[in-house]
Amino acid sequence: MSSIDYQERIPNNVDLSSDRRLQRALEAWQPRYLDWWMEMGPDGWMENEVYLRTAVSVDRDGWARFGYVRMPEYRWGIFLADPEPDRRIGFGDHYGKPAWQQVPGEYRHDLRRIIVTQADTEPASVEQQRLLGSTAPSLYDLRNLFQVNVEEGRHLWAMVYLLHTYFGKEGRAEADELLERRSGNPDRPRILTTFNDPVQNWLDFFMYTMFTDRDGKFQLLALAESGFDPLARTCRFMLTEEAHHMFVGQTGVGRVVQRTCEVMQEHPDADPREFGAIDLPTIQKYLNQWASSSTDLFGAEVSSNAANFFAEGLKGRAWEERYEDHVAAEGTISIEEPDGDRLVEREVPLRNAMNEVLRSEYLADNQKGVDYWNKILRKHGIDFELRLPHRRFHRSIGLYAGRFFDPEGHPVDEATWRRRQYEWLPSEEDREYVSSLMRPVYEPGRFAGWIAPPAKGINGKPLDFEYVLV
Ligand SMILES: [Fe+2]
Ligand SMILES: [Fe+2]
Repeated sequence: MSSIDYQERIPNNVDLSSDRRLQRALEAWQPRYLDWWMEMGPDGWMENEVYLRTAVSVDRDGWARFGYVRMPEYRWGIFLADPEPDRRIGFGDHYGKPAWQQVPGEYRHDLRRIIVTQADTEPASVEQQRLLGSTAPSLYDLRNLFQVNVEEGRHLWAMVYLLHTYFGKEGRAEADELLERRSGNPDRPRILTTFNDPVQNWLDFFMYTMFTDRDGKFQLLALAESGFDPLARTCRFMLTEEAHHMFVGQTGVGRVVQRTCEVMQEHPDADPREFGAIDLPTIQKYLNQWASSSTDLFGAEVSSNAANFFAEGLKGRAWEERYEDHVAAEGTISIEEPDGDRLVEREVPLRNAMNEVLRSEYLADNQKGVDYWNKILRKHGIDFELRLPHRRFHRSIGLYAGRFFDPEGHPVDEATWRRRQYEWLPSEEDREYVSSLMRPVYEPGRFAGWIAPPAKGINGKPLDFEYVLV
């Protein structure tokens, strides 16, 4: 089951050739996908050979093969994790019943909505990142950008497979619309706000892969628990690919921090900007921006949709097996709700707070990444601590939207926010400075002056390997 058939036009491990109608439908979607990729994928790099990994099996070890590929020739395909024999629904009202191999009719609408919302983020991120290839700080980083991009494309394939296979005509229409929306386009935007925000430079990109891709990880963890087995298996394999995206973000920011530390050690009394590094307060502001925007992606703190999705067995919690009570019909969670200019504790039924439960897991995972950066600061003897902003800071969705909080989560009035917002978020001037550093460095083994080289290369290759043939 786990071997992937690369003889087919669409590589897959789902025995696609046994379902002619489905195969034809997906083969008709494929050229439209490629048109979208050529129009909205990495701008100006379609002819270059890139040292990429391609999935060759869904086994945990040795699932990927590395080699030079031109991106339009990447073998996007459909890979599901192997089925678990006699898998049972792990949570909600149907707890303990056999997992569904077909869509339960009464949940068709909700399930489609969940899949389309996840699917839409995949091409959106490719669109957001499409111009970054002209300013990469090294060939190593350029290759990592493209690896992330082709895998987000594959994640779109993963979701489109589900839409085509299980949702009939409506599913096919949704699959077409996924190629029609455009990140940041006011007339036909991507579904979620963060996926319409501009990713202007490489500091944005590293923060994005750290914080926004990590939202993806937690959404996938929750969907990997789904009682709809094909969705669970699809998400389980996507998680294997996703890990690399967060590695790119966490180590990318870490290397920026490291370079800044080195400059500060050499020139203790100077502004690191004088020596072409990114000063720590600016790094903190970018962190605040992307962490807060990505925190919004979990949705409202109190949500009847979240309660329904859980009750229905469609979307669980990350690592559901770690909980004792999988039904969660009882119990509450305490949430701090704004009331005038104070915060009051309110008990919310657990199922209605499932977004908040997932968000808390996400924030704890974020904190580990921030701790890793702070270790780099300490190792260099720099007295500065990067901090994850409070979950209330700079929110556009949920209970805290439309109100003002400082990065510690204390309520502030609007006048204070206006006066201090650029102490907390990148100003126009900060963005101009960071952008001024973004010049391509495409000699093998060389790195831009604002970022340290990584600890090691890709797949055992040296740092001066030609990761992209330019
Ligand atoms: Fe993805
Ligand atoms: Fe990703």
